[in-house]
Amino acid sequence: MEFKKRILCIGAGYVGGPTMAVIALKCPEYRIDVVDINQDRINAWNSDDLPIFEPGLFEIVKERRGKNLFFSTDTEENITKADIIFVSVNTPTKTFGEGAGMASDLQYWEATAHQIVKHAQSDKIIVEKSTLPVRTAEAMERILKMHSGNIKFEVVSNPEFLAEGTAISDLLEADRVLIGAHDTEEGNRASQEIADIYRHWLPEEKIITTNLWSSELSKLIANAFLAQRISSINSISALCEKTDADISEIAHAIGSDSRIGSKFLQTSVGFGGSCFKKDILNLVYISKSYGLYEVADYWESVVTMNEYQKSRFVRKIIKEMFNTVAGKKITLFGFAFKANTGDTRESPAIDITKSLLDENVRVTIHDPEAIENAKIDLKGIEKNITYETDPYRAAANSNAIIITTEWEQFKDLDYSKIYDSMEKPAFIFDGRNILDHRKLFSIGFNVYPIGKQQLTHFS
Ligand code: NAD
Ligand code: UGA
Repeated sequence: MEFKKRILCIGAGYVGGPTMAVIALKCPEYRIDVVDINQDRINAWNSDDLPIFEPGLFEIVKERRGKNLFFSTDTEENITKADIIFVSVNTPTKTFGEGAGMASDLQYWEATAHQIVKHAQSDKIIVEKSTLPVRTAEAMERILKMHSGNIKFEVVSNPEFLAEGTAISDLLEADRVLIGAHDTEEGNRASQEIADIYRHWLPEEKIITTNLWSSELSKLIANAFLAQRISSINSISALCEKTDADISEIAHAIGSDSRIGSKFLQTSVGFGGSCFKKDILNLVYISKSYGLYEVADYWESVVTMNEYQKSRFVRKIIKEMFNTVAGKKITLFGFAFKANTGDTRESPAIDITKSLLDENVRVTIHDPEAIENAKIDLKGIEKNITYETDPYRAAANSNAIIITTEWEQFKDLDYSKIYDSMEKPAFIFDGRNILDHRKLFSIGFNVYPIGKQQLTHFS
């Protein structure tokens, strides 16, 4: 079949895979190729066992794969043939040299620029899909222009706002799509060409076009604002525990003000995921590099508060279990950084597990989707860890259960049965405030929510 346009996506990860699957679904007249350097990942994309768990994704991949959606490691040939190249490689925090622990590591990003310029034989639009520091396009353009001869590259920013666990609905019903381009004739044309893709399923008013730098920076700021709300509510959860105010009542009361809004006010054991911390630290680094130290300090406090929330939670567990947790069995319900994903990157459960292991606790981990990733995260320190796919077996003989991820199925477990199988006194630390605390208390548990009164049987 002759395709109207060829789109290439470099990077078949949590963003590249779902985003391209949805474009393939909505634009059957375009051919979409997704490439990666990781052969195992590509093999998984071509199998019935996709490399990432995301509700609704498999059905779309199955429907379009082999028709207008193709996964391969053949970067060179696909660069040659593509009209539009999305770059969706990882941009983690730098772990070495200047800016280590804060700045973005752009080595994967830069490598793709060199690949593109090496293999391109015609004009192309290059789309920044990865999250990048503001003004990255400038560096990309320098590399592309240095070696491009007569070939013209137009760099456009089109950051992704999907959240894991809801990626498909976030893509299909996006609040907005953001496209940043240079305010030149070529830039405007490229911006419209990218907008045309999204016009296949989104109304015009949802497509926002800006200048390149606003688009790059908006992505970092959206994540910073979301994370800031979580740190704000988490900071107040500590105050609630001292004053008997209730964090859920406060979230409802303040969230009902339409100026504040109700979303992202769910207190937790701390935010995780591969992006919030990385993107805020990047914002801090950028601010410092422009000499804006007060701006940097302001945003860094969002991450500091998150670290405090995680360590505060562990300190509470140890204190409430009579400061003697060594040798006890503690079971984590949940290891993913949020529900409906198997992703464990920066999951608070990692820090909690490590802190408990430092106290010589025997840790059991149960999660519906994330056990394989948990094993990778905890490789080398697994001596006192067991993994359990059945929640009842996981909880049996435990001294305490910790809810670390807000999986729906944890709400519906038979907690009387669980209580009967546990050591006494039995503790539950609900790091997500998802359980029925009064009911658990009446069963016999000592219950410790976040930002709410604890319910204990100790006098
Ligand atoms: P990921 O690690 O899951 O995927 C990135 C992929 O790129 C990997 O499979 C890697 O092998 C591949 N890659 C690296 N260099 C390559 C090269 N030269 N050629 C081909 N493939 C290469 O990362 P992700 O979670 O998909 O994130 C990608 C980008 O999107 C990041 O900048 C991230 O900040 C941003 N983002 C992520 C999310 C999310 O929910 N995960 C949401 C919005 C934005
Ligand atoms: C986040 C943003 O929501 C996406 O818009 C963005 O595209 C993405 O980062 C990215 O750039 O990677 P994601 O990290 O997948 O998405 O998931 P979120 O739903 O934002 O949750 C992040 C963390 O915050 C999770 O650990 C979650 O449990 C926690 N959280 C979220 C809370 O503790 N409370 C809340 O009210 C909401």
